[in-house]
Amino acid sequence: MDITFLLNGESVALTGVEPTSTLLDWLREDRGLTGTKEGCNEGDCGACTVLVTDAHGSHPLNSCILFLPQLHGKAVRTVEGIGGPEGRLHPVQQAMIEHHGSQCGFCTPGFIVSMAAAHLDGATDFDDRLAGNLCRCTGYAPIIRAAEAAADEPAPDWMTADAVALRAHDFTFAEISSGGASAPAEAGGGQPPSGAYRPRDAEDLARWYAEHPDATLVAGATDVGLWVTKSLRELAPVAFIAGLGDLRGVTVTDSGINVGATTTLAELGPAIAPHHPDFAELIRRYGSVQVRGAATIGGNIANGSPIGDGPPALIALGATLHLRHGENRRSLPLEDFFLDYGKQDRAPGEFVEAVTILRQPDALRCYKLSKRFDQDISAVCGCFNVAVADGVVREARIAFGGMAGIPARAPHVEAALTGQPWTRETVEAAMDAFAKDFSPMTDMRASAEYRLEAARNMMLRYFLEAQGAPARVLEVAS
Ligand SMILES: Cc1cc2nc3c(=O)[nH]c(=O)nc-3n(C[C@H](O)[C@H](O)[C@H](O)COP(=O)(O)OP(=O)(O)OC[C@H]3O[C@@H](n4cnc5c(N)ncnc54)[C@H](O)[C@@H]3O)c2cc1C
Ligand code: FES
Ligand code: FES
Repeated sequence: MDITFLLNGESVALTGVEPTSTLLDWLREDRGLTGTKEGCNEGDCGACTVLVTDAHGSHPLNSCILFLPQLHGKAVRTVEGIGGPEGRLHPVQQAMIEHHGSQCGFCTPGFIVSMAAAHLDGATDFDDRLAGNLCRCTGYAPIIRAAEAAADEPAPDWMTADAVALRAHDFTFAEISSGGASAPAEAGGGQPPSGAYRPRDAEDLARWYAEHPDATLVAGATDVGLWVTKSLRELAPVAFIAGLGDLRGVTVTDSGINVGATTTLAELGPAIAPHHPDFAELIRRYGSVQVRGAATIGGNIANGSPIGDGPPALIALGATLHLRHGENRRSLPLEDFFLDYGKQDRAPGEFVEAVTILRQPDALRCYKLSKRFDQDISAVCGCFNVAVADGVVREARIAFGGMAGIPARAPHVEAALTGQPWTRETVEAAMDAFAKDFSPMTDMRASAEYRLEAARNMMLRYFLEAQGAPARVLEVAS
């Protein structure tokens, strides 16, 4: 595959790229840019963070789970490019020195890139912005102090140069957002291992995928990347779809909210916040800034994970999923898409186009339980959406991740609530029905008993919150 991108301000053109080679490996092994570190190689530690600029802005991303073709037409800045010409330091680098933000230094390049990205955005929510970077020796206080100290300094001109250069580059933003030029799969004598495709638009993807139904779609690669780096899987042929502008974005009409499949979680959060703030709050705890900048809602649904955070919230909101195969389209309630563990109602060659939610008064609350507050997969994720009128429950939609082999509703609990007065007695009676709805498993994240008890308590918490009781971890003072 042929790709072109900017690396620390300079144009790079690569030919014959192995589609699933990672940016991290290429930087370190082919370019000798060893400032970018390899820690976990699975998106968890942030040691490999680079800054990627495209038509949608500048995002810190984990280079260990970024495939090189995902960078086509974009600009990459590694830690070597965060400092300016003639050894000039970026304000966050200077502040890290002054505030003693580095000891062994292994995490420091990743922190510097994340801090520079936050600095470029004018962001000061450093607990969130640095949650995807782990430090094992310095401790976070000096690092946060450094980020705060640099916040008022202006962004150096070299940090804004990528966006300017891309606009002036041979690739226009329009070309980039549509994924760049289409590159045919390398055919002949069967698909060679490197067979890869970069569709021009959704139409092109529909045609190609129907012809190559065994292909792997790569969107943000926050799941697929791990299949390569951890499971050492060979993926061929592959199609890179994250750049498809016509599958991307959130459209709000009087009747509904449509979320395109390639919309990233970073984009979905602020777009959904005015309508369902708790969904946005859930997204804030979804992976890290680096993960959310790449992960798409289409990938989060299509992977069928029983512990994905998007599906419970969307199911509780009554979302409809839109699928496409060639010229054929169909829609189904999102909960019906998940058939069994690892099995979804998706035919070979069929892909997720979008998911829609009807406009509705906001009653959604999402509760994510995980071992760590930040950057952790849910042990249990419960989403509640109960419509009450005149003191009576008119409709209840309750959906969970982590309670079954698939994201699933709680039909017995919903039935126990519906038509009943919205009182603590009703809620406590309904809580008992969780044992009819779910037989959760015991695994490293939580025991079956803990999961059931947590689900019951979430129901009560929802009721108490609806009565105005403070129940948020971050709001309850000791
Ligand atoms: C460090 C880390 C933290 C994470 N934290 C969370 C978390 O807190 N909550 C959570 O829910 N998830 C989390 N994840 C999982 C992952 O980020 C999500 O599942 C993500 O949304 C997947 O989207 P993607 O675009 O990266 O998908 P990809 O990895 O590109 O694809 C995932 C799967 O979906 C398929 N696919 C992608 N798009 C489509 C489409 N449009 N149509 C059909 N099939 C498609 C792919 O072929 C593949 O099978 C985390 C992952 C990492 C690495
Ligand atoms: S090496 Fe840990 S996130 Fe990439
Ligand atoms: S300085 Fe050693 S890991 Fe952060």
